[in-house]
Amino acid sequence: MERPLFIVVEGLDGSGKTTQVERLRHYFQARGASCHLTAEPTELPTGRLIRSILQKEHAVDPRTLAALFAADRVEHIFHPDSGILAQLAAGHHVIASRYYFSSLAYQSEFVDPGWIAALNREAKRSLPADLTLFLDLPPEVSMERIARRPGNDELYETLEKLTHARESFLQAFHYFGEGENIVSVDATASVEDVGEAIIRAVEEVA
Ligand code: TYD
Repeated sequence: MERPLFIVVEGLDGSGKTTQVERLRHYFQARGASCHLTAEPTELPTGRLIRSILQKEHAVDPRTLAALFAADRVEHIFHPDSGILAQLAAGHHVIASRYYFSSLAYQSEFVDPGWIAALNREAKRSLPADLTLFLDLPPEVSMERIARRPGNDELYETLEKLTHARESFLQAFHYFGEGENIVSVDATASVEDVGEAIIRAVEEVA
């Protein structure tokens, strides 16, 4: 495993992204490879502003939110220290929880998907992932898992929205994922089985 990989993990809320990203980190570390974990929205000022909107501290037009996610992504890619390109250049594998397919999945409920795609074309051109893993979960299961979490009132967490998001993820992989390596994993399976499917997909690209 010579070349540092950029791996994206996408999926509905409750699909197990956090658990699987941690398992992937252990997988790389057990092989003596360093690994940088990252997520969108970022911890940078752009990401903090997005979180405050998701937590309903301020209301903005949905187009503004779509533009903010795209702006946060630019920071995520190009930030000179914590940016994905900088981390890859330093020789670390990078695993990101969410990337541009999340914008196409979630923002397209209220914003023209063609415009969202346009906002994200630079990210796709500059840094498509080596592998995008889609942890696929029926929206009902996502909803059940979210309901068990404390403080579950973020903007996107209703059954209707999750249903739209899953369908939009699938469409986005089709029309925006051209040339990319996208692997769908059944996220209703056990943590171990999902983890093994992920490792198999990673070993295919490594
Ligand atoms: P977060 O609490 O980090 O959720 P998770 O752990 O499920 O990733 O909040 C991220 C939320 O932001 C999530 O509901 C999806 C949403 N989101 C978008 O709407 N568009 C985007 O481009 C991204 C990256 C996330």
